[in-house]
Amino acid sequence: MFFESRIFPTIAEMSEAALDAILRIVNDAVSKRNRFSIALSGGHTPAKLYALWAEKYKTQTPWDRVHLFFGDERFVPEDDLLSNYRMARQTLVDHVPIPKENVHPMLTNFPSPEKAAKAYEVELRKFFGEGPPALDVQLLGLGVEGHTASLFPGSPALDEKQRWVVAVTAPAEPPQRLTLTPVVLNEGLNTFFLVAGEDKREILTALRSEPQDVQSKYPAGRIRPARGVVWYLDQAAAG
Ligand code: 6PG
Repeated sequence: MFFESRIFPTIAEMSEAALDAILRIVNDAVSKRNRFSIALSGGHTPAKLYALWAEKYKTQTPWDRVHLFFGDERFVPEDDLLSNYRMARQTLVDHVPIPKENVHPMLTNFPSPEKAAKAYEVELRKFFGEGPPALDVQLLGLGVEGHTASLFPGSPALDEKQRWVVAVTAPAEPPQRLTLTPVVLNEGLNTFFLVAGEDKREILTALRSEPQDVQSKYPAGRIRPARGVVWYLDQAAAG
C-alpha cells in the first residue's frame, strides 16, 4: 500500500510538523471559503499537537472561522476521563478564544448511542448542507490492530454507505462509541494519520506491506480519500 509518510525523531517534532501543515490549510481555507473545519481524533497521540496549537499558534489562528469537529467519541459523560471531548478541552479548547458555537463535540447526553449518532449527523449536515461532508482536515489515529476513529476490524460500519455517523460496539474500553463512517472520512480534503510509539510499528509494517490493488484488511487502510492521506510518524513507530 502506498504511503506518503513523514517521519520525525520524536512525537513532539512530529506534532509540530503536522501542526504547521494544518495551519497552512487553515489559512488557505479561510482565505478561500472564510471557514476551516477539522475533525479531531481521540486517544493519546494527538494531545501533544493540541497542546502545541494552544501554546504556539493561539494568536495566529483565526478562531472565529475555525470549526472543531470530532472523528469519534466514547459514549461516556463529557467529563469522563475517557472522553475525547474532555481531552480536547483540556489540551486545546479551554485555552484558545474559539467561539463556543464553533466547537462541535459528539454530545453523549442522549438516552442511547444511536440517538447521539443521529444528533451528530444533524449537526454535520447543518454545517455541510447537502454537499459532501468534506472536512478541510481529518486527524486520525491508528490502533495496534488497525482501527481508526472507532472503526474496528470486522465492524459493519466499515461498509456503511449512507450514514455519516453511527453508534458502534468496540472491542475496547468503553465499548459504546460514536464514529464518523467512511462516507465522511473518504471525503476529507486533507487526512493526516498521527502515529507514534514502538507499539504501532507492527501494524504500520502490516499496512505498508498490503498490495495496493486489494481492499485493506484494516480499517485504517480502508480510508482512501481522493486527495490521499499523509502519515505523520515518529521514529519509534516508523522503525
Ligand atoms: C479513540 C481514537 C482512536 C485512537 C487510536 C490510537 O477514540 O481512541 O479516536 O482511534 O486514535 O486508538 O490511540 P492512541 O493515540 O492512544 O494510541
